[in-house]
Amino acid sequence: MRIRTLTDTVGAEIEGVRLDRLDDASFDGIRAALDRHGGVLFRDQSLEPADLVAFSRRFGELDHAPVMENGRTAVEGLPEIYIVSNVLDAQGRPIGSLGAGEAVWHTDMSYLENPPDFSMLYALEVPASGGDTWLSSMAAAHDDLPGELREQIADLSIKHDGTFNSGGYLRQGVREDTNPATSVGQPHPVICAHPRTGRPVLYLGRRRNAYVMGLELEASETLLDRLWEHATRPELAYAHRWRPGDLLLWDNRATMHRRDPFDPAARRVMRRTQIRGHGAPRPVVET
Ligand code: SIN
Repeated sequence: MRIRTLTDTVGAEIEGVRLDRLDDASFDGIRAALDRHGGVLFRDQSLEPADLVAFSRRFGELDHAPVMENGRTAVEGLPEIYIVSNVLDAQGRPIGSLGAGEAVWHTDMSYLENPPDFSMLYALEVPASGGDTWLSSMAAAHDDLPGELREQIADLSIKHDGTFNSGGYLRQGVREDTNPATSVGQPHPVICAHPRTGRPVLYLGRRRNAYVMGLELEASETLLDRLWEHATRPELAYAHRWRPGDLLLWDNRATMHRRDPFDPAARRVMRRTQIRGHGAPRPVVET
């Protein structure tokens, strides 16, 4: 197993492993690389849906995939698999979610009390250009916060909106509400301690409809704009250009991700799993 760092702040490529036949020592190496780099990439994998689920389960219990925008689940008999795709079936219905547009920067499902610990995407079909997935280190974003900004947010929480997904679609069963102060969501501390490494991370979730608890809406918007501008600088990020057979796995507590738009006439089909959260994001406790 060889580990090659992808950027100074986030991501590593792991070479020399097959995820459908992984021994325990290699798995431990992957775990350690994930703690260190926030996200790991494997190329040239050949994974049936059951292989993807089996590999994912080594990290913990899996979430059942949310019902897709088309109201269906993705793979018959494997409720853990979600399809991210713009492709339409023979009846003209989307086979997956998120279409071909941009998916804005976000942490997966942070509108829940216990968001997933990890997410992984496995590429089956990819467009010739566009559709790159970006990962950004929220530990690095925390570490280079200006001191006065870090002090300002030290005891604050953000309400993570549960109304819209990262493609801008209204979630199933949720009433549309564009007022950040009243929309449904879950508050979490702005700075959290990573539960495995103890590193402080900036925990922002999604920009749309976010709200800093206890502030006037205007003050909340101003503070959030400043934090988002800081956290989404390209120098904190790795942009992944997909090939079929790639698997990208990220720690949802340590990173945010986004996706570039791509030609809607091109095909992009990814399978996704998520590892259930072990607990709510916790604040850093000063000793
Ligand atoms: C996601 O935001 O979970 C999907 C990212 C992608 O399609 O690359």
